[in-house]
Amino acid sequence: MATTSVNDFEILYSRDQIAQRVAELGAQVTRDLNGEKLVMVGVLKGAAPFLADLSRHIEADATFDFVATSSYGHGRQSSGAVKLIKDLDHPIEGKNVLIVEDILDTGLTLSYLRKLFLQQKPKSLRIATLLDKPSRRLEKIEADYIGFSIPNLFVIGYGMDYAEHYRNLPDIRLMPPDHPE
Ligand code: XMP
Ligand code: MG
Repeated sequence: MATTSVNDFEILYSRDQIAQRVAELGAQVTRDLNGEKLVMVGVLKGAAPFLADLSRHIEADATFDFVATSSYGHGRQSSGAVKLIKDLDHPIEGKNVLIVEDILDTGLTLSYLRKLFLQQKPKSLRIATLLDKPSRRLEKIEADYIGFSIPNLFVIGYGMDYAEHYRNLPDIRLMPPDHPE
């Protein structure tokens, strides 16, 4: 039997489609900033490639910070509870903050982070997500910048993983539902 390769996984968004959309989002963020400074807060690890690419399309004085939350664990299922594993390095009081996430799914992660960050009284707090799965939402939360809205599919690549693998794929691909753990 032939072994399946990652190239057999269907491409949902190609690297070119991603690059074009990320550039559009960067221009939007730039416009909304009105010349003000920005703190980009990436949610590790999945958002790292998106943050890196998005930042290069934002024409402003931007700094980076990163947080990490408890994630999907090893498979596709979330445990439900969100825990902060790595906090911000710098205070965000009075700053324009953009949370950068790979996927807005149930909304548990971003609701938690939004509440946590608002306690610090930033000047503004916005959310950029590359992908949005609105059908999965458990918390009432929307992103200000959305790359692509998708149905309930499990995706990998461009930062997104399956058991920590495939984050480095340049395209976003569909994880076959029958793929073993
Ligand atoms: P929510 O919104 O449910 O999102 O708190 C939690 C985290 O789930 C991850 N997630 C995925 N990761 N492929 C992935 O690699 C997916 O299809 C997928 N759906 C959700 C995502 O990292 C988010 O931070
Ligand atoms: Mg994530």
